Amino acid sequence: MDKIRIHGGQALSGSIKISGSKNSALPILAATLLTREECIIHRVPDLSDTHSMLQILTHLGAQVERASGIVCVTAAKVNSVAPYDIVRKMRASVCVLGPLLGRCKEATVSMPGGCVIGDRPIDLHLKGFEALGAAVRVEGGNIKLFAPKLRGAVINLQGRFGPTVLGTDNVMMAAVLAEGTTVIDGAAQEPEVVDLANFLNKMGAKIDGAGTRRLIIEGVPELHGAEYEIIPDRIEAGTFLVAGAISGKRVIIKRAEPEHVRSVTDVLERCGFAIETEEDSISVLPNGAAQPLELSTEPYPGFPTDMQAQMCALLSTTEGRSVVRENIFPQRYMHVAELKRMGARMELDGATAVINGVDCLYGAPVMASDLRASAALVLAGLKADGVTEVSRVYHIDRGYEHLDEKLRELGADIERVRA
Ligand code: EPZ
Repeated sequence: MDKIRIHGGQALSGSIKISGSKNSALPILAATLLTREECIIHRVPDLSDTHSMLQILTHLGAQVERASGIVCVTAAKVNSVAPYDIVRKMRASVCVLGPLLGRCKEATVSMPGGCVIGDRPIDLHLKGFEALGAAVRVEGGNIKLFAPKLRGAVINLQGRFGPTVLGTDNVMMAAVLAEGTTVIDGAAQEPEVVDLANFLNKMGAKIDGAGTRRLIIEGVPELHGAEYEIIPDRIEAGTFLVAGAISGKRVIIKRAEPEHVRSVTDVLERCGFAIETEEDSISVLPNGAAQPLELSTEPYPGFPTDMQAQMCALLSTTEGRSVVRENIFPQRYMHVAELKRMGARMELDGATAVINGVDCLYGAPVMASDLRASAALVLAGLKADGVTEVSRVYHIDRGYEHLDEKLRELGADIERVRA
């Protein structure tokens, strides 16, 4: 098992290119199950999560070919059972439920297990499938869906913590082949949901309202193949902007979509950094002393929960008192204990972290617990005095394509070592 070793204190500068979005690639790859014809997907990031999704598609009977970021999937025939030993590797496997139900009118998929970032039920997904006419049973650790016929319905997917991203994706993918019109209220507005809707429309679906709180889906008898390019990864983009803010001179990220990271660049400007935006590149540079701030995570277009940990790392060395409220996954603070091992001063009070900035962090051996927490530990290591060793980096490889190589391109003293 690899570790990442960082010698802190190197100022970052230069530019890197952003990869395709993980959280777009996963549901878009699942959506290829909705047609017998070939789909060609460009800019699929090389991640263990996308590999897991391709494994699931292959297990379900699809023919999959992959070459340097381009994936071709032909699901001429599919079976509708996705077993535990494949699904358990990745929660997002749950998003094959909608396409299988839409295409086969039945699906058996292992129930997703626990997650370190908090309680992650799928009740809203199942509520949506039931509204479309599916019988839903949870049996032997599996979700079993069956519907002789799917019919359009009016569905509200607003949950206790706001809309659900994969729930909106899943119900949308089942509804595109249903008879009649489906209205999804309380829909998630994330760019990844819009990307999926655009791909489905390219396959012949009829979806209106993507990016708003109300989706209108007119069912069609079948979908055809399509060729599609995935949007840039806004969370990877945000992570590198914060890396630049933590220890950089001028860091430029290229092939990013400025609008998708607006909430992150706004927060960095509030923190006192300068942001320069061009058509598809964004620069972050220091602009005097960084300022503490109050921050809450929200559904898009608010500040993303997937950037909360990285911001905690930045605020841990920003002089003054900052307050971070996690409104989407209230327990998503596994990084706090590890940052405190590096000398950070942070106190948790329920879903709120109170951070008193320190002058300096100290390198230490730390443990990654989930994808974004591990990115935060790497960013803290860039700033820390001495050597930081992040173990369990398989968490990073799930969602960042070549993170250590890209940071090295920016001048970081970082290496991957065998544990
Ligand atoms: C997606 O997860 C992302 N994953 C997550 O990114 C991201 O943190 C999350 O959206 C929120 O932005 C992918 O796209 C693969 P939700 P998802 O359903 O869809 C509650 C990363 O780091 N809820 O929008 O699973 C839920 O518990 C990952 O890349 C219900 O109560 O998240 C949470 O509190 C981590 N019932 C809130 O809604 C449901 O049926 C939002 O969750 C579904 C969700």
